[in-house]
Amino acid sequence: MSRLRKLNRRQAGLLAAAAVLCAADAASALTGHLGLALTVLGVFLCGVLGGLLLLARRLTGLLGAHRAAQRDVRQVLDHTQRRLLGAVEEMLLTAGDRHRELVDTLAAQQKAAANGTDRLLRAQTGEIEALVQLFQGFTPRAPMPTSGGFALNPTDLLDLVQLVRTRRPRLVLELGSGTSTVWIAYALEKTGGRLVSLDHDPGYAEKTRAALAAHGLTEVAEVRDAPLRPVLLDGRSFPWYDTDALADLREVDLLLIDGPPEKTGPDARYPAMRVLEDKLADAATVVFDDAHRHDEQAALRRWMETIEGLTQEGEAPGRHAVLSYRRMVRQLTPQ
Ligand SMILES: C[S@@+](CC[C@H](N)C(=O)[O-])C[C@H]1O[C@@H](n2cnc3c(N)ncnc32)[C@H](O)[C@@H]1O
Repeated sequence: MSRLRKLNRRQAGLLAAAAVLCAADAASALTGHLGLALTVLGVFLCGVLGGLLLLARRLTGLLGAHRAAQRDVRQVLDHTQRRLLGAVEEMLLTAGDRHRELVDTLAAQQKAAANGTDRLLRAQTGEIEALVQLFQGFTPRAPMPTSGGFALNPTDLLDLVQLVRTRRPRLVLELGSGTSTVWIAYALEKTGGRLVSLDHDPGYAEKTRAALAAHGLTEVAEVRDAPLRPVLLDGRSFPWYDTDALADLREVDLLLIDGPPEKTGPDARYPAMRVLEDKLADAATVVFDDAHRHDEQAALRRWMETIEGLTQEGEAPGRHAVLSYRRMVRQLTPQ
């Protein structure tokens, strides 16, 4: 009964028609109207056949729709799969490229680090060798102040001392006092020359004076206080050593330019040759420390262009450059 209640109107109608036909058929047969009974049975069977044909058509339609849906789903799946594979392939390629890049960078850095370490080791070996040679040349009477950093490196000091030994300057002028002052003074003590060193900083000047006193070199070298004052050159103002500290100096045979420090201003050492050319002997040597630095390179170029008789002497060891100065004698044209 509950099943009968679930039938829709159409199904209930068809069931009722079938029941009426069955009942009519049974009644016709029982009352002896066989012809009518057969006719009713024929109508009933035609109805059943029509229903079956309708059902078969609908099932065929459903099957077609089901196949079309399956095709669509397969297409969507294929498309999604292709996109996924493409994305994974691209990711793999990108990851591969990145990996190769990282490996290359790492290799380049390892090579640079190895080269750097190698250069450092070679430089250190050179500095040690220079230090040994320096101490073989002199027996200091007190502990020597340290070299390197703000002070000249042993390789630069060794070349400087060698220049003093071989060129035997009578007067050496140093811009920027410190460890180099003591080494030059020891060398001059043997060759018979004199050293004047300028320092813009009273504290460092005093420290160098104390070192000279400790080594018994005050007869050979003196440190003068020379605060930085504005010097006008080529329309520019530079903070440079007070020229009053140089007033009595002439015929400087060897000039060491190692000050003022770069932090005192751009092109800090450029004024040196411009101010001091007149103080140099007719033939003089100029040692220019930190010559590899940008400002010092620019100063060097400018001096060469503007100062007659100034030339660079080959490649010097360490960080300094050695320049040679020969005063040009101008021919007086007869009136
Ligand atoms: C390059 S240093 C001169 C070094 C000196 N010619 C030598 O070889 O020892 C130039 C100036 O820097 C200053 N100075 C020296 N040592 C310094 C330090 N450790 N820190 C800051 N300034 C320093 C001093 O006034 C010195 O005159």
